[in-house]
Amino acid sequence: MTGFEEVGALLRHPALSSAWPERGKTVLHSTAARAGGTARTSDTVRRWFMFNDGARHRRLRQLMAPLFGTDQLAQLRPFIEEQVDELVDARRDRVDVMSDLAVPLSSRVICRLLGVPADVAPHLEGWAQDIAALLVADYLPEVAERGHRALEQVEDVVRRSAESTTLPEESGLALLFRAGCAGVIEDADMAAIASLIIYAGFETTSTFIGKAVRSALHANAWCELAGADAESSVEELLRFDTSVRQVARVATAAVDLSGQRIEAGDLVLLMLGAANRDPREFTTPDGLDLRRKGRRHLGFGYGSHYCLGAGLARLEVQILLRKLAARWQTAELVAQPTIRYHYGITVLEQLEIKVHSPH
Ligand code: HEM
Repeated sequence: MTGFEEVGALLRHPALSSAWPERGKTVLHSTAARAGGTARTSDTVRRWFMFNDGARHRRLRQLMAPLFGTDQLAQLRPFIEEQVDELVDARRDRVDVMSDLAVPLSSRVICRLLGVPADVAPHLEGWAQDIAALLVADYLPEVAERGHRALEQVEDVVRRSAESTTLPEESGLALLFRAGCAGVIEDADMAAIASLIIYAGFETTSTFIGKAVRSALHANAWCELAGADAESSVEELLRFDTSVRQVARVATAAVDLSGQRIEAGDLVLLMLGAANRDPREFTTPDGLDLRRKGRRHLGFGYGSHYCLGAGLARLEVQILLRKLAARWQTAELVAQPTIRYHYGITVLEQLEIKVHSPH
């Protein structure tokens, strides 16, 4: 589905399930039944509330929600500002937006959010990639091996944090440990949810940062960034080119929508990127207009699985873009970005720019 109204309607539709393993099996074309590490993958991934429906999804989402609430974001703001200052101040003339800014910023923020030591941050990129690969190809022995090793390393960090006396009380892991002690979640849920936060929060944000810079440069809108309202600029950049271009669901019953029949058991791909360019919804959909009004886009999904980290991602990107535009009067692409296509996400690996600062 590619239309804005249709994708929005299906994201809210009770007959469209996010559940693993049904969704996983369909996505993997029934490879879940093949030999390999799939049982291990399924055991972790079926605990991710992103891949749960109904009561379990609601319960775990509610459990984690305070981590992304207004108070928590207000506490994270100075940390994000400090990191952005440090990363931007260290760069001169030539910058690889991904390795110099986007990757370190989003990984440090995830570490801070979870409450794990900063020296874990450089590992997050590899772990996130290896865990993401498991979702689509864990029937390949080398993918299973790397992915399961990454999950074990996340488990190890969680285990060490449980023994730590310095774990901040308001951190994600502290919240999970309290829920574990109270019997609200099982032990295996703790590391599983930590791996979900890494999977869902890291590459999505780092790639979006890269895409936002690339979109602004392509549209010759760099100098507009400094004057435009940071909040509406980020919404338009998300509409224009979000990092999660599609999400999948499996129909649990037949659904008729806009002349299309979806049968029970069908895999439904909801094309968020296409919906965000639907000419029935947006005037000049293929143009980037930083002054466009309204937040109506599907870059963070919609309905019960709406991105739990949306507020945090917005905050990070707003702070970073505001700083970049104020610091660098001009910026230009010096090479075509290096891109890796990964199920649903176009991952930017390298985005080299040349910048000019008046100071
Ligand atoms: C869910 C996009 C950043 C955590 C989602 C969904 C989308 C999305 C489209 C819905 C998935 C679905 O319906 O199946 C993005 C984008 C981001 C971003 C574009 C960055 C620009 C983050 C961050 C975190 C995060 C920073 C946490 C640190 C989550 C979680 C879910 C989710 C936990 C699952 C919610 C649920 O199933 O109830 N995200 N995300 N995301 N996101 Fe994000």
